[in-house]
Amino acid sequence: MAVYDALGATYARTRQADPRIAARIHAALGDATGVVNVGAGSGSYEPARTVLAVEPSQVMISQRPPGAAPAVQGVAEHLPLRDDSADAVMALLTVHHWADLAAGIAELRRVARRRVVILTWDQAVFRERFWLVRDYLPEAAAFDDTRAVPIDRLLDLLGGGRQEPVRIPHDCADGFGAAFWRRPHAYLDPCVRAGISMLAQTGDDALAPGLTRLASDLATGRWHSRYAELLTLESIDVGYRLLVTDS
Ligand SMILES: C[S@@+](CC[C@H](N)C(=O)[O-])C[C@H]1O[C@@H](n2cnc3c(N)ncnc32)[C@H](O)[C@@H]1O
Repeated sequence: MAVYDALGATYARTRQADPRIAARIHAALGDATGVVNVGAGSGSYEPARTVLAVEPSQVMISQRPPGAAPAVQGVAEHLPLRDDSADAVMALLTVHHWADLAAGIAELRRVARRRVVILTWDQAVFRERFWLVRDYLPEAAAFDDTRAVPIDRLLDLLGGGRQEPVRIPHDCADGFGAAFWRRPHAYLDPCVRAGISMLAQTGDDALAPGLTRLASDLATGRWHSRYAELLTLESIDVGYRLLVTDS
């Protein structure tokens, strides 16, 4: 059973494409005409020119909207596609889940005729800049330490490429890890946490002390005075990175 068959039951409720991040991804894809989305989940960020989605979890595939590109059940490590069969291949917020990263990246490169686009995060930056994991949930940061993929390693496996910071807007529509950086109450909602694998996989027992402290700091106003400066910002860079590699 794919991990997201258990994790992803409510994914589409809290995880939809954010239009500003979508614009960045679509710009990174350039003029590629046929795009394959690997680790596609429920189909967030797929441009209209997507020709195929590859996703291991049937629970995730079942949440794709009507009219989305065709999806096939499969993993990055063995893409069911011929060499050079797609103009571009994208893999968004997924590489940290792969069982064999090197095999998966080799597959992206094999299938992409022109470009590979990956959205991921720099764990060192994330740990240091994101108040939730730095100040309340170090257990979640420790869990992410075990699976986050260093950007240098990814660029090595990709054979080079450029990285672009992706700032997270304060009202980000896609409820991933840091999406609610200016809406702290959201992290107290079990449905929000279920849509964030870092929190869902760390588990509520381990998170309980930090969440209790967060709830108390929100109730007393301590959170708002401690992070007053954040409340003035429209977006922040907490380490999300877009990697763009040409073949
Ligand atoms: C956080 S979700 C991201 C989904 C989608 N790309 C998005 O941006 O909403 C991670 C996805 O990676 C998928 N995944 C896990 N292991 C994978 C693998 N070995 N190959 C491809 N996808 C995988 C999961 O099933 C899940 O749908």
